[in-house]
Amino acid sequence: MAKALEANGAEAEIVSIGTKAVQGCIACNKCAETGRCVFNDDLYNTIWEKAKDADGIVVGSPVYYAGPNGSLCALLDRLFYSASSFLRYKPAAAVAVCRRGGACAAFDRLNKYFTINCMPVVNSQYWNSVHGLKPGEASQDAEGLQTMRTLGNDMAWILRSGNVMAIPKASRVTHVEDIAKSLDLVLTEEDMKAIDQAFPPPIHKYIWPVGSSWETTAISVSFRPRRHCPLFRPLSGRCG
Ligand SMILES: Cc1cc2nc3c(=O)[nH]c(=O)nc-3n(C[C@H](O)[C@H](O)[C@H](O)COP(=O)(O)O)c2cc1C
Repeated sequence: MAKALEANGAEAEIVSIGTKAVQGCIACNKCAETGRCVFNDDLYNTIWEKAKDADGIVVGSPVYYAGPNGSLCALLDRLFYSASSFLRYKPAAAVAVCRRGGACAAFDRLNKYFTINCMPVVNSQYWNSVHGLKPGEASQDAEGLQTMRTLGNDMAWILRSGNVMAIPKASRVTHVEDIAKSLDLVLTEEDMKAIDQAFPPPIHKYIWPVGSSWETTAISVSFRPRRHCPLFRPLSGRCG
């Protein structure tokens, strides 16, 4: 997945939570005042900083008893409870790795962190899972790997579309043209019309300012015209 993101021009960094004990949330609610968890450990601080900087987030976990790894959930509870404000609206995806069963349940559980926080969930052509027991076995699951490639391509596509949308109308057209240039696309007049149709003034009203639930509605509406506009076409290699 990281390779697919990089092939699409997006930087990807993989951060492991390691094997040490991970503190869980104790519902002290101090983070509501400070924006940070009271347990000031390196793992939490590292993930907090990286999540803040990232444009999109992918959470991967092995499947344990048909759920995500417990240490990961301990960390995610603290991260999402303390950092929901800056995680909001970042595109996110979950991936579960298992030997045989429970991937869908683990995948659902991880998606719950995103779907309670206005985060657009990025999808692939199958529910995001890869199968393997021992280290290296997952790399033999051809269908799982293909699902990951598609997911990487789709995340890059959403990030790119998001960049187009997150630009106020005055500078948006220039930005759209820059992106088209970097993709070696020539925008016709028809494409520009499609872009303008995709961002009519009422939608702008909902995209700016960020922070209302209307924004989510606006984003899903804005994706619709992609078939008419090269910028919104799936990237090459998608589903393949
Ligand atoms: C405590 C524990 C519970 C597990 N439960 C499941 C399970 O419910 N379903 C499954 O298919 N595999 C299960 N497995 C196998 C792991 O999913 C598998 O070892 C893992 O995907 C390998 O990923 P990793 O090398 O990143 O740990 C379990 C493994 C452990 C250690």
